[in-house]
Amino acid sequence: MNALIIGGGGDGIGRAVSRAFAAAGAAVAVADLDPERSGEATDELVSSGLRAVALAGDVRSPSAIDGFVSQSVAAFGRLDTLVTVVGGQVAFVPAMRLHEMSDDDWDLAYEMNLRYVVRAARAAIRAFLAQGGGGSIVSVGSVTGVMAAPMQAGYGAAKAGLASLAKTVAAEYAADAIRMNVVACGAIATAAAKSAHVDGEVPEIPMRRLGAPRDAAAAAVYLASPLSSYVTGQSLVVDGGVTVRGPFAV
Ligand SMILES: NC(=O)c1ccc[n+]([C@@H]2O[C@H](COP(=O)([O-])OP(=O)(O)OC[C@H]3O[C@@H](n4cnc5c(N)ncnc54)[C@H](O)[C@@H]3O)[C@@H](O)[C@H]2O)c1
Repeated sequence: MNALIIGGGGDGIGRAVSRAFAAAGAAVAVADLDPERSGEATDELVSSGLRAVALAGDVRSPSAIDGFVSQSVAAFGRLDTLVTVVGGQVAFVPAMRLHEMSDDDWDLAYEMNLRYVVRAARAAIRAFLAQGGGGSIVSVGSVTGVMAAPMQAGYGAAKAGLASLAKTVAAEYAADAIRMNVVACGAIATAAAKSAHVDGEVPEIPMRRLGAPRDAAAAAVYLASPLSSYVTGQSLVVDGGVTVRGPFAV
């Protein structure tokens, strides 16, 4: 399996996804805005005897997205999997109620969480079709795409859009053996999340802990692998039970 991981240089879910795919036997192209991050991620994998190449570019640039896909194909001969990790709200747009949001705030949330994914999925699907079909797309989404997203309306709407995009890609390309699924994360213990949530025991979460980046990464590997060959258009919620418990404990 050859995989392109956009945002795979990050020290949170991104790095965990890069490590998990490489550990599962994939050759990985790690793309990131920060060339030092993608370089560090791939150096670690290569020094462990795994196959990895570092790519750099900004997901806001359509040519960078096309370049990520074409460079991945050039590096490994073919592309089997695209994983999109880049996203979030507070990293890009401050948390605020809807009446405070400007059009620019909304557009940026959409751009960083959905528009680039559309472009990346399109480029990957073109590569998959040129190879004769077959391929898997996995996008890191959020439970804010299935629940309300207070103070993060643009983020929540974009993540909900990801789930819709996965369904449409699933329906349009099932006959080409191309699948798309979403990993809908709850609170994952990344540096940013730890500053926003209590680190340690979290009573609001039925499992009482934040998720580990590797919890999200394991779901992404499953959704990319042949183990999930009959699964497409789905959102796999990885949230320690947050979305299944009502507010009143019994
Ligand atoms: N941490 C959580 O609690 C949580 C919860 C739900 C969903 N998520 C989702 O997880 C994903 C992010 O996970 P993370 O915060 O652990 O990521 P991360 O910090 O591991 O990696 C994100 C990477 O994206 C890169 N990046 C940022 N802007 C970019 C750009 N313009 N072009 C290219 N690369 C860029 C950064 O350099 C960084 O290396 C997002 O999709 C987010 O919505 C996280």
